[in-house]
Amino acid sequence: MRKVKVGFIGAGSHANLVHYPSLASIEEAEVKAICDLNVERLRRTAEKYGVEKQYTDYREMLEKEELDAVYVVMPPHHLYDIVADCLREGLNTFIEKPPGVTTNQTKSLAWLAEKNGCRTMVGFNRRFIPLMQNVKATVEERGPINQCVSTFYKNVQSEEPPYYRGALDILTCDAVHAVDALRWMAGDEVDEVFSSVRRLYVPYHNSFNALIKFKHGAVGILMTNWTAGSRVHTFEMHSKGISAFINPDSEALIYSDNKPEPRRVSTFEAAKSRERHVYYGFYHENRHFIDCVLEDKEPETSFRDAVKTMELVDRIYREANDVR
Ligand SMILES: NC(=O)c1ccc[n+]([C@@H]2O[C@H](COP(=O)([O-])OP(=O)(O)OC[C@H]3O[C@@H](n4cnc5c(N)ncnc54)[C@H](O)[C@@H]3O)[C@@H](O)[C@H]2O)c1
Repeated sequence: MRKVKVGFIGAGSHANLVHYPSLASIEEAEVKAICDLNVERLRRTAEKYGVEKQYTDYREMLEKEELDAVYVVMPPHHLYDIVADCLREGLNTFIEKPPGVTTNQTKSLAWLAEKNGCRTMVGFNRRFIPLMQNVKATVEERGPINQCVSTFYKNVQSEEPPYYRGALDILTCDAVHAVDALRWMAGDEVDEVFSSVRRLYVPYHNSFNALIKFKHGAVGILMTNWTAGSRVHTFEMHSKGISAFINPDSEALIYSDNKPEPRRVSTFEAAKSRERHVYYGFYHENRHFIDCVLEDKEPETSFRDAVKTMELVDRIYREANDVR
């Protein structure tokens, strides 16, 4: 069996929580080398996953190792040059969201990938959550989704902007998951956007709401607010005579044909696992990337596709007449 030889740049918290454990359980993937500027994290991660080759300079790693793919998982404002160097070496590349600080960065990376024949993927894991995939297939048995909702609420009260001391705004850095999920559920190109972008109690934008009309008629609704009661992240999918209300942290309720009782599907049953990196879609996004590298196929959330999500983020800002 052919194995994808991976070089992993970044041994930080998210990578350790979800990507290293996912790759460790994929037989067709092998982490050959790890690179991090922080020697303690580098050693700890390499030891845990039995990776011999360790680097603090990614250029040295790219030069010395024979790799099929790289993961670059680090704060988005440190990403661009590293990813561009990997693409120039012709390496298939996985990055986390957001795929750059601006749409222009994402576009340039997509262009570099194409020019150098690289398969690329952005970690928009919500699309890969087994419960979401399972429910979407059920709803779509009745026809295309005609209306969908993404909500994402968090409770951040600090005056200091979140996301690397404000290096990135909330919508681009994190609420982008909810935006990408709308594109995935509506399965279509954006036509019109009506939006509201507000600052609630703090000096930075922290609440983003939008109604998005997609070209073939589906309507997507985005509701996000970072001064809400707690983290709550849910989705709705509607088609003819069927409606699903999904919380990927717990379960989905599927109502159909006016029956009073919904069908309940547990997120753990859908994933056949109680491990968060499995039931929350991280294992499956890694699996998808490795499969695409092996089969030389474009991943669903390639850099090219991610440009469209970044453009939708831009439009949500642009069309809001209350943005200050
Ligand atoms: N999909 C999700 O749900 C989700 C959740 C959390 C974080 N993330 C994303 O994961 C990414 C990483 O976030 P994090 O919180 O784990 O970051 P982190 O700060 O914990 O880890 C980043 C690591 O990169 C290393 N690093 C930085 N520059 C480097 C360089 N030039 N060479 C080698 N190593 C370098 C740092 O030393 C650090 O160990 C971000 O893009 C974030 O948005 C995604």
